[in-house]
Amino acid sequence: MPNLEPLDAIERASVDELQALQLRRMQWSLRHCYDNIAFYRTRFDESGVHPDDLKSLDDLSKFPFTTKRDLRDAYPFGMFAMPPADIVRVHASSGTTGKPTIVGYTRRDIDDWAHCMARSIRAAGGDANSVVHVAYGYGLFTGGLGAHYGAEKLGATVIPVSGGMTARQAQLIHDLRPDIIMVTPSYFLNIVDEYLAQGWDPKQWPLRVGIFGAEPWSVAMRDAMQTDTAIQATDIYGLSEVMGPGVAQECLETQDGLTVWEDYFYPEIIDPQTQQVLPDGEEGELVFTTLTKQGTPLVRYRTRDLTALLPGTARTMRRMQRIKGRSDDMLIVRGVNVYPSQVEEVILQLPQLAAVYQLEITRAGRLDELLVHVEMRGDGAQQHRQQIGDELQTRIKNTIGISSQVVFHAPGELPRSQGKAVRVKRES
Ligand code: DLL
Repeated sequence: MPNLEPLDAIERASVDELQALQLRRMQWSLRHCYDNIAFYRTRFDESGVHPDDLKSLDDLSKFPFTTKRDLRDAYPFGMFAMPPADIVRVHASSGTTGKPTIVGYTRRDIDDWAHCMARSIRAAGGDANSVVHVAYGYGLFTGGLGAHYGAEKLGATVIPVSGGMTARQAQLIHDLRPDIIMVTPSYFLNIVDEYLAQGWDPKQWPLRVGIFGAEPWSVAMRDAMQTDTAIQATDIYGLSEVMGPGVAQECLETQDGLTVWEDYFYPEIIDPQTQQVLPDGEEGELVFTTLTKQGTPLVRYRTRDLTALLPGTARTMRRMQRIKGRSDDMLIVRGVNVYPSQVEEVILQLPQLAAVYQLEITRAGRLDELLVHVEMRGDGAQQHRQQIGDELQTRIKNTIGISSQVVFHAPGELPRSQGKAVRVKRES
């Protein structure tokens, strides 16, 4: 796929140039928060810091964190830095419990977001000739509209399908011949099954690139997608509180983790327990400070996502490792911390199993037990269940270090994702 659009100069600038820009923007952003959001003025004052104290990027560590709870407490408009007349759109976080978090965008915020998304799609190999099938949901969720504005800004042709109606998704891919799909990885698998069910071969389909995000997915999942279909699979990251999709994107030429668009979002990694900043390369909780956002800017927002920052490769900006998981999704099984993506890696090593699973913790007697709900691919291998179940248990024990019970379901029985997959089954 020819990439005709030039990169932004900053994507290839020197680290010094990038850091000078970051410092200027960070000084502006802290001042903007302090002057316009009562919450930040109080927090900074209580912590004995002032925006003028930021003389270097390292000084950021003197400033207090912002948490999800702070945003909830400010519901709905307490974190807005601009008057209603300047806000042109709101979105909301996909929080499943309690009140959502409302984020607001000025006209310039929407332009910046579209720019970050256009940059992301281009990093994935897209250009003005691309035809982009958007199967992220449109609405308060940032996935659909974020992808849409970015693809349009790049000059591509957008097919705004949104989520759901899977049979129609397959039909449109077949008939309209998009070369890029933007969708959650779990819903993508659902679309692939439907494409096959309609009698077509996803190895022959027009799609060449997938831009997958909004939920954790493993390298094993990527490899399986690239083997089973004609696409190259890239990872896109973002969160509504910080903007939406397009905070970081994996470059197609390297497929080695996600380049953080550091001229817009300043990343840090902290130890979630001590809250100390960790050096690049070490794994911890990802924290973002927005550098240009007007509507709902954030200082040191704790994402609860676990990753590590790595030096830039395809771009000057640093990369982040594929997200291991969210602290909220972490299961503790007899004292061992487990993320669904770790179990996913193991399930996908067994080609007889479908890439659909759910995890559940039960208490058999007084001890936690991990139940791994899986399905066989097709009907053929049903008689090998026992053997495959034993194999999966052994591999989980050897790689993650925990005992588990495997529960088989009939093909098609486990819930299929329409957007973000629910990987952990909680007691109702
Ligand atoms: O999921 C924004 C988005 C839409 C990103 C489309 C990518 C593509 P929220 O609903 O606010 O926003 O959820 C944000 O989803 O904190 C992560 O836990 C998770 N997440 C997002 N992208 C990835 C990814 C959108 N590539 C939360 N890998 C984040 C792993 C991801 N987790």
